[in-house]
Amino acid sequence: MLVVLKKDYEEVSREAARIVAGAIRSRPDIVLGLATGSTPLGLYKELVAMHRVGGLDFSRATSFNLDEYLGLAPTHPQSFRHFMEEHLFSLVNMHPERSYVPDGTITGDYDAYCARYEESIKAAGGIDLQILGIGRNGHIGFNEPTSSLASRTRLKALSRETMEDNKHFFDSDSEVPKCAITMGIGTILDSKRVLLLASGRSKAAAIARAIEGPITSSVSASALQMHPDVTFIIDEEAAYSLTQRDYYRHVLEMTQLFTPERLS
Ligand code: PGA
Repeated sequence: MLVVLKKDYEEVSREAARIVAGAIRSRPDIVLGLATGSTPLGLYKELVAMHRVGGLDFSRATSFNLDEYLGLAPTHPQSFRHFMEEHLFSLVNMHPERSYVPDGTITGDYDAYCARYEESIKAAGGIDLQILGIGRNGHIGFNEPTSSLASRTRLKALSRETMEDNKHFFDSDSEVPKCAITMGIGTILDSKRVLLLASGRSKAAAIARAIEGPITSSVSASALQMHPDVTFIIDEEAAYSLTQRDYYRHVLEMTQLFTPERLS
């Protein structure tokens, strides 16, 4: 695992954008795994600017979002489809038919729908680069604590902590979604490369447990320790509880010297 320590949120966003843009340029038909939430907003802003000013071309790319709230229509202002349209899809030249977000309005056979989402990822050739945030409880996607480390896309009940974190986005408590469709941890681990971004002291405990703790379903992000190509890009506040920061800086220096392609 590479742990890239940055000063603040802006630096995290710029570094992530540099890597994502580089990946798109070197492989225009890239398959991206995308995340929502406050963390990737800066990354998307940078990518939009690179599209406008530098001609970064999304026209041949495909994307799959990690998750969507159950019960929210794509037009609902708090739906993740709406978030993606607002902050990325409508601002770059991404092909609408190749930007997948799970459908929150499905009813009935959830397993069959989720199996089809997995099939679509496979048919696209698998995810080349997966962007992740991390929840305070260590979740990635909506894989709440105790999610199977082998889980695939499925309907998932949200934890009390996650619902608390989401409360301020909705007018009343009763509107806060209780479930979501989310890629599984197994789905995420199948992607070829993973970038996890984190910023702020509220993420420090989850980051420390994900990077330096044991692999456990109690901290979904700890499963990334089993992935061969994962880069954590985190700011000083999110890195606060890590015990081996000097070692991560040394690893980064050596990587820049001997295998810089891992950082490109
Ligand atoms: P945030 O959410 O980026 O809004 O902090 C991250 C997450 O819950 O995965």
